[in-house]
Amino acid sequence: MAIEVQKLLLLLLPLFISIFPSISLEDGFVQCFSSNTPNPNATSQIIFTQKNPSFKPILQSSIRNLMFSHKSTPKPILIVTPHNISHIQSAITCSKQQGLQVRVRSGGHDYEGLSYTSHEEEDQPFIILDFSNLRSITINLEDETAWVESGATLGELYHAIAKASRVHGFPAGSCPTIGIGGHLSGGGFGTIFRKYGLAADNVVDAVIVDSHGRLLNRTLMGEDLFWAIRGGGGSSFGVITSWKVKLVRVPETVTIFDISTRVVEDDDDDDSVITFMKWQDIADKLPGEMFLHAVMGIENVNSSSSSSSNKAVTISFTGLYLGEADVAVSLMSENFAELGLQRNNCKQMSWIQSVLYFAGFSVNSSIDLLTQRNQTSRISFKAKSDYVTSQQSIPLSGLKGLWKILLHEDNSPLLILTPYGGRMSEISESESPFPHRKGINYGIQYIVSWDNSSDDEKYLEMMRRLYEYMTPYVSENPRRAYLNYRDLDLGVNRDKNTSYEEARTSWGSKYFKNNFERLAKVKAAVDLGNFFWNEQSIPPLI
Ligand code: FDA
Repeated sequence: MAIEVQKLLLLLLPLFISIFPSISLEDGFVQCFSSNTPNPNATSQIIFTQKNPSFKPILQSSIRNLMFSHKSTPKPILIVTPHNISHIQSAITCSKQQGLQVRVRSGGHDYEGLSYTSHEEEDQPFIILDFSNLRSITINLEDETAWVESGATLGELYHAIAKASRVHGFPAGSCPTIGIGGHLSGGGFGTIFRKYGLAADNVVDAVIVDSHGRLLNRTLMGEDLFWAIRGGGGSSFGVITSWKVKLVRVPETVTIFDISTRVVEDDDDDDSVITFMKWQDIADKLPGEMFLHAVMGIENVNSSSSSSSNKAVTISFTGLYLGEADVAVSLMSENFAELGLQRNNCKQMSWIQSVLYFAGFSVNSSIDLLTQRNQTSRISFKAKSDYVTSQQSIPLSGLKGLWKILLHEDNSPLLILTPYGGRMSEISESESPFPHRKGINYGIQYIVSWDNSSDDEKYLEMMRRLYEYMTPYVSENPRRAYLNYRDLDLGVNRDKNTSYEEARTSWGSKYFKNNFERLAKVKAAVDLGNFFWNEQSIPPLI
């Protein structure tokens, strides 16, 4: 009898399949989401599948690195643009149910595009949770804090602070279109970090949706998870919806200056060479109020004798002093006379004007420019990072080799050299996952950009050669790197089963040094199943 029933079922199977065709991942997700959402009619305003005409513009809206915007770049099967926290919780529940990976995007500035694409060899379907609708900012001057949603940009935060007060600021990065979510969870440094520390050092509370869909603030998540998301990268641990940050007091008047020099490479007594050698020794020892970074690059010069175009190495020193110009000048003449800073090199202004300046705007422009979310030019780029420690600065012979490389390239990278010291040296290496503190003289960012997508491989190779050349001059065991300048050349997780040890030795200890172990233990405690996975997410360590 049982065999007869089985036969009948087999005969009827094609009929069942045609009546109930297998449901696609997209449709399954949408159905699940609608049934988990109080107002299912709103789903069409929240979820955008590839068929939706808004899918492409939303996907591209905050992609900064065009290297990950090619036709062949893996795309999400759909984008969720939550309007409130319940949408995030439903998206997590439904992604789990459908076996989908989740990429979380706040400002889209990830150097390797990890917030909106996948580099996995096997096609693993994924969705994007895009925070562009969650960007409210509430400033509270009474306790000098602000609550900021992850989708707000740094520019929007700086703008909101400046509207509320002339004497408050926040220590974070220079580019106003960077998203709060990625920046704060990866560290975040800027022009006033020598005085106040990283953006992550100034976070006092946060709200996260974890892999079980629970909504947790600092008290509920506990100090381990709260520690991990302030520099360990949010995407390994959950979806951080908002942050409470401590505002810092800035003086009403700050001073900026910019001094550019051109290097004569074959003259060891060249002034700019002497200035740079001194900068390497002194920049991290100046008081925390003084930020003086150096940018090294190549410029074309017209040689008057032959009228042919030649190239020269230039080094620009740009400074921000938290105080008046006269004090800045005397501080520099006492400590760094080689720079030759004069009063007429200096401009006094408010802190928010200095933000405009470092963002590349005229200091007299409207601060509303800081709230434009699409102003950064969109180009293909590759960057890498290094740290120079107090044990050695780069010797002249090393610099000469570097300049030779830069001069040889038709499109050479820039080196942005950022001095540490000040407040950064007072915070211990394990205070947060970001370990680059005491003993760091300066950080280096190498960055090259290009227009033509057919040049991708050429420039990736060039950057790898430059990085190789710099090996003897920078930190070792581990060779340190900055998480927010993400570099997949350091190594990637093969898949969800990549072990703690594999990840630690390839990329983990470079970003986090010994903090990697604690991060992996936190990961095991909050996401043992490794739901929040990406190419450089922290593996769980039990
Ligand atoms: P994006 O949205 O791409 O996210 C970056 C990472 O964080 C991804 O892994 C993403 O999944 C995760 N993430 C984002 N939102 C999350 C959330 N809500 N919850 C959990 N995970 C989340 N850095 C610096 O320190 N100082 C500087 O001055 C600059 N300047 C600068 C200029 C330019 C032009 C670029 C492109 C980048 C920088 N950066 C920088 C680096 C920047 O800090 C870094 O790329 C940040 O991670 C960007 O954060 P977004 O939210 O914009 O990126």
